[in-house]
Amino acid sequence: SSSKILIKGGTVVNAHHQEITDVYVENGIIVAVKPNIKVGDDVTVLDATGKYVMPGGIDPHTHLAMEFMGTETIDDFFSGQAAALAGGTTMHIDFVIPVNGSLSAGFKAYERKANNSCMDYGFHMAITKWDEVVAEEMEIMVKEKGINSFKFFMAYKGSLMISDELLLEGFKRCKSFGALAMVHAENGDAVFEGQKRMIELGITGPEGHALSRPPMLEGEATSRAIRLANFVNVPLYVVHVMSIDAMEEIAKARKSGQRVIGEPVVSGLILDDSGLWAPDFVTAAKYVMSPPIRASGHNKALQAALSSGVLQLVGTDHCTFTSTQKSFGIDDFRKIPNGVNGIEERMHLLWDTMVESGKISPTDYVQLTSTECARIFNIYPRKGAILAGSDADIIILDPNSSFEITARSHHSRVDTNVYEGMKGKGKVEVTIAGGRIVWENDQLKVVPGSGKYIEMPPFSYLFEGIEKADAKYLSSLQAPVKRFNSTT
Ligand code: URP
Ligand code: ZN
Ligand code: ZN
Ligand code: ZN
Repeated sequence: SSSKILIKGGTVVNAHHQEITDVYVENGIIVAVKPNIKVGDDVTVLDATGKYVMPGGIDPHTHLAMEFMGTETIDDFFSGQAAALAGGTTMHIDFVIPVNGSLSAGFKAYERKANNSCMDYGFHMAITKWDEVVAEEMEIMVKEKGINSFKFFMAYKGSLMISDELLLEGFKRCKSFGALAMVHAENGDAVFEGQKRMIELGITGPEGHALSRPPMLEGEATSRAIRLANFVNVPLYVVHVMSIDAMEEIAKARKSGQRVIGEPVVSGLILDDSGLWAPDFVTAAKYVMSPPIRASGHNKALQAALSSGVLQLVGTDHCTFTSTQKSFGIDDFRKIPNGVNGIEERMHLLWDTMVESGKISPTDYVQLTSTECARIFNIYPRKGAILAGSDADIIILDPNSSFEITARSHHSRVDTNVYEGMKGKGKVEVTIAGGRIVWENDQLKVVPGSGKYIEMPPFSYLFEGIEKADAKYLSSLQAPVKRFNSTT
């Protein structure tokens, strides 16, 4: 590692433009992007000829050190981030889970969990109950703690799920201070019914997880969330879009001009549900996440939606549990901790599936792995760009080199990998995070505590001009209309 780095002769890719040029980094910041930069011998020079130089990936959706379903994810901030860096991701946004409903207690707990970070991170906040204290604390989180997004759960009945009434309250509150409302869109009451049905039928294995919560329940909740967001005129971000059903609701809303963002995750784009029927419990259980990984066909449709712009950015929902933890549900799929890996694999799998295959260009790739996330969460162009003045979070990807995924050599602490055995073209050869070379020659050189908390300010571009629609609505109510009135 070095505080001065010159990346020579690579194809530098931003979301809307690429060209062969040099990039010079000093003290964690990109200082210059121009051809033929000359430097002294105190500078580390990386030859990127024939390679792509791109902004480090930003993963908008992770769960590190999360307590969930009676256990805690095996990857903490340090191990999850080390895995991320080895795969070309240099920032992630994790979900703070409130402690007994308290947002401030949750925030403190996550500050502690993240203090050994080796890369930059931001926070979303989950809202798991509703009262006046929560409503007040939301404002504190936005104004003082750098959080500009809140996730509401329409599923996980009995624990995280909230009603439509509270969803509307939350949406309005988000809008009042320019925070983005996010939803986990599955109909939790119907999932509960579906689970009962499976148990009654004697289907207790991992396949029961998928059978109990089919795509229609994701489609219904996505449609409902979109309509409720429209009703109160707030931007909406749908996390982990896993099905055609949900994607089509997003497509329809966007076509009508509504401010809706759809985030597919790598597992939903790449995998299908066949693994859930594996005869061996541990193999099948590793695919259990919510919403479920769908039947073959949904993945290809989500890829197409990504290429056509119906969906805007890609996350992972990285949420890892070991075989032992997954085995808590050996007799009952409802007790299998939900979640799959992906923070290390996202950049590679997307390059191979989308760019190498010709579905999207390198500039599109940068847009949906980094730039759009930075724009939505209002940290662009500090993040998400190779520009003078931006943070030096940079990857060098060799399109002619190949990768192979296996739990034997991955950097996550989990003992399995849902992408086990997958191979592809396009390998991240160098990762630079905060101006340090942290991944080179298949070696990690990470420094605990070097990662910074990135505060995300409210009122992203998604809020631009939103008051116009409100004004129109209000004036329509005040327009002279015929009323029944006893005095005239
Ligand atoms: O199965 C999942 N997705 N686990 C993480 C929690 C969530 O709903 O995102
Ligand atoms: Zn240019
Ligand atoms: Zn979720
Ligand atoms: Zn999640």
